[in-house]
Amino acid sequence: MATSEHQLPEVKRPSATTLPRRGFVEALLGTGFLATAAAFIYPVLRYFVPPQAVDLGGDSVVAAKVGDLKPNSGKIFRFGSRPGLLILSADGQYRAMSAVCTHLSCTVQYRPDLKEVWCACHNGKYGLDGRNISGPPPRPLLAYDVQVRGDEIYVSQRREG
Ligand code: FES
Repeated sequence: MATSEHQLPEVKRPSATTLPRRGFVEALLGTGFLATAAAFIYPVLRYFVPPQAVDLGGDSVVAAKVGDLKPNSGKIFRFGSRPGLLILSADGQYRAMSAVCTHLSCTVQYRPDLKEVWCACHNGKYGLDGRNISGPPPRPLLAYDVQVRGDEIYVSQRREG
């Protein structure tokens, strides 16, 4: 009886069947470590490498198709990397301008009830020609040229001179 108390407990040695399980756990931990490292490194890299600015092709874009706008309505379109505003006035004339408010760069919109361009940030107002008429905007909106070719409405930078 006394001899059985002094015996060392039997040590289990890994058998051939437990080794694949260990390898699986090690692979799982390694993958988790790599995923965690990537989750930290990727945002840092994205911060230091700015995204490429998308240039949509020179100084002219297709802002809409004929029929997209009802009279007395407006539509925001993308002009290069900035928003533009295309308006079909109540008398059926297309007008286009930058949609970036000249006060603090909020995006303006067309207000059919006012028949004006309106900036929601500080209640700035512009006329249909982009002229600043009330509120804090210090300058007019940049006006663009509009051309209807076929069923597409092209907007381009206004050429001075
Ligand atoms: S940003 Fe447009 S009125 Fe202030």
